[in-house]
Amino acid sequence: MENYPYRINDLGHLEIGGIDSVDLVKKYGTPLYVYDVSIVRKNCRAFVEAFKKLGVKAQVTYASKAFSSIAILQVIKQEGLSVDVVSEGELYTALQAGIAPQKIHMHGNNKSRSELEMAIEHEIGCIVVDNFYEIEILTEILRKKQKTADVIIRVTPGINSDTHQYIMTGNEDSKFGFDLHNGQVDQAFQLIRENKYLNFKGLHCHIGSQIFETDRFVTAANILFQKIEEWKGTYGYTPEVINLGGGFGIRYTENDQPIPLDEYVYRLVEVIQNHCSRLNMEVPEIWIEPGRSVVGDAGVTLYTTGSTKVIPNVRDYVAVDGGMTDNIRPALYQAKYVGLLANRANQKADTVVSIAGKCCESGDMLIWDLPIPKVKKGDILAILSTGAYGYSMASNYNRFARAAVVFIENGIDKLVIRRETVKDIVKNDLSYE
Ligand code: LLP
Repeated sequence: MENYPYRINDLGHLEIGGIDSVDLVKKYGTPLYVYDVSIVRKNCRAFVEAFKKLGVKAQVTYASKAFSSIAILQVIKQEGLSVDVVSEGELYTALQAGIAPQKIHMHGNNKSRSELEMAIEHEIGCIVVDNFYEIEILTEILRKKQKTADVIIRVTPGINSDTHQYIMTGNEDSKFGFDLHNGQVDQAFQLIRENKYLNFKGLHCHIGSQIFETDRFVTAANILFQKIEEWKGTYGYTPEVINLGGGFGIRYTENDQPIPLDEYVYRLVEVIQNHCSRLNMEVPEIWIEPGRSVVGDAGVTLYTTGSTKVIPNVRDYVAVDGGMTDNIRPALYQAKYVGLLANRANQKADTVVSIAGKCCESGDMLIWDLPIPKVKKGDILAILSTGAYGYSMASNYNRFARAAVVFIENGIDKLVIRRETVKDIVKNDLSYE
């Protein structure tokens, strides 16, 4: 536990943000997502302050796909971050949370006309243009409304990051962005610069997610600067903005060795500054878009244990009252997590079990081979570092209701997303009788 931001209290219970997890379960039930808000704030500040310390112009944009809700975006707003959205739903949530439209950026590889219209209507701060089709519809909308929009180009740098294939995004064979190597980026640059409705601000790239080496980001920056050098030479153009995306890795298990968040910033700024002095140009505003590293380690999911199945000499299964509907990451990416008994967190592990979810799906497993004290029915299982891409990827598969979300700060717990009910499950169903 020493590498995780939790405490075990005198009763042997896991405490989250100073509150006994057993009390939380009594009050709110399970499955329950619990966030220690002080950790979210600490993560935001690590990024913001690192830029401040270096005195560079920067924008830290929270990638709200990691976890979007009105409450979390209010915290993000209080910490001064901008917000990146990829859908009308995320945009609407950001606006409802009171994020200033100028501090909202829109991403997406197939933004719909209505998403772009909504973005333009609200005059959001920046649209990260991903493809030629988008340039076309964006121009049509802007022409009709006689408005302009600030845009940056998403570049596919052609880098393989050392992460799961499904969360790599900067590799050459990727659905995202304009390719650097076959002239697409240059073509997009020309189209946008000639377009009176689009204000071209700069370049973006996101190389993937859960990345631990700063070298990958340095490589991405080097690649972008090759293009910048070329454009500077040919057109005398220099960008106002360089956005290096998100993807900073966090600790899920003891095998993960994350780099302190401010170190990513120091390294990125260093490489950008070096390129700028080499090219004798002003340092552009530096943008980053962390999602996971803002909320991931701030979240814990609490479950109640139920049925067990022992297959002698093979495996002991312990089932909990959630699963892939609240955390699809193990099933989708073979993601690994640390789990412990929150109500007996002081007891030594004396057995090994595998934690199953309750969906009708053999792949619905949360943790394989977890060392744990002998589990009794009704124990509380805590899974750590579930703050990112847990709730946001939750589903109603098997018509399970989505779990509730509780925030804890200054020793006070507060429900911020209600637990769904069976009524919510059928609320859009229409009768056919
Ligand atoms: N910027 C862009 C353009 C992105 O596509 C993403 C993530 C981010 C920023 C934020 O990346 P982060 O800092 O959170 O790693 N569902 C997967 C992760 C998918 C990430 C997609 N894009 C997971 O659970 O691991």
